[in-house]
Amino acid sequence: MKEKILVTGGTGYIGSHTVVELQNAGYEVVIVDNLSNSNADVVDSIEQISGIRPAFEKLDCLNLAGLDAVFAKYQGIKAIIHFAASKAVGESVQKPLLYYRNNLGSLINLLELMPKYGVEGIVFSSSCTVYGQPDQLPVTEEAPIKKAESPYGNTKQINEEIIRDYVASGAPIQAILLRYFNPIGAHPSALLGELPNGVPQNLVPYLTQTAIGIREKLSVFGDDYNTPDGSCIRDFINVVDLAKAHVVAIGRMLEGKQADKVEVFNIGTGRGVSVLELIHGFEEATGVKLNYQIVGRRAGDIEQVWANPERANKVLGWKAETNIEDTLRSAWNWQLKLRERGIQ
Ligand code: UD1
Repeated sequence: MKEKILVTGGTGYIGSHTVVELQNAGYEVVIVDNLSNSNADVVDSIEQISGIRPAFEKLDCLNLAGLDAVFAKYQGIKAIIHFAASKAVGESVQKPLLYYRNNLGSLINLLELMPKYGVEGIVFSSSCTVYGQPDQLPVTEEAPIKKAESPYGNTKQINEEIIRDYVASGAPIQAILLRYFNPIGAHPSALLGELPNGVPQNLVPYLTQTAIGIREKLSVFGDDYNTPDGSCIRDFINVVDLAKAHVVAIGRMLEGKQADKVEVFNIGTGRGVSVLELIHGFEEATGVKLNYQIVGRRAGDIEQVWANPERANKVLGWKAETNIEDTLRSAWNWQLKLRERGIQ
């Protein structure tokens, strides 16, 4: 058994896939999650896939005493992967204080406890949102950080800065900031996937819910952008590939291979795909016809962004492997499985 890793938000969409990959790689996992946007059943699914049941503590990361007790109970936690955060862009505009309190407070609590329990490093879930609309594409990690479009985006930027400032102060920790592009898809077993609360805000869950008849029509937000087909362009990254990036980041950190105490990596495919291309790709990959219509632009959307993932490819030795057809099929299989289970 390898080192013990604390995964906050480990029952969430990206967190749960990462726990599976960590366990497959031999790590021991302790999950902390307040279940605000996930379900405790996910722990069963993780066990079903990997054959190992991770430790699970229902806890809010804002609860400093509770977190302290978790570190005390599971002695020897070597590193943290911090997913737990609020992530709905629109909601963050309505409830900025909730977002600032949750997303900043949780990180600060974890950082504060790390030296006390000898935790060596933290992998932080950041986002390509920190680049805004980049001046150059594909975007590299050196691109300037633009003023955030939403309180949610701002929490990602500020959290990156908090980590840098803390390390610069001489705190005995290291950090890897992973800037995700657009994670989509589900585990090939169809036992894990994205389970949005209420009406999905993100493209792929809305698309699969439309395909299965929960939603009447998918709205494409704008076809008058300055892109080849007029719809927005994103870098859609398979969630299992993304999960594996965390495993290699943890390995690099714990093997003492980091060149800097804070390292940052883009985690994307390097390929831009438009919203309309994605819709047609889904139809081809699954044979399911989608009911969609073009509507006006969504406020705050970035026109186009995709990653230059070379640094992650070279330095981490990680590369996105799954093609978009397989990824879209996995999202569809997950939606079918949810129906079978009577969930959605
Ligand atoms: C958004 C956030 C990003 C955050 C991510 C995770 C912005 C600018 N970015 O990414 O910071 O990390 O969510 O929650 O808000 N679309 C449709 N119809 C739909 C839904 C989406 O056409 O019903 C389009 C959008 O206009 C966009 C693309 O699909 O062009 C992707 O949208 P979405 O899945 O919401 O992700 P982002 O907006 O890229």
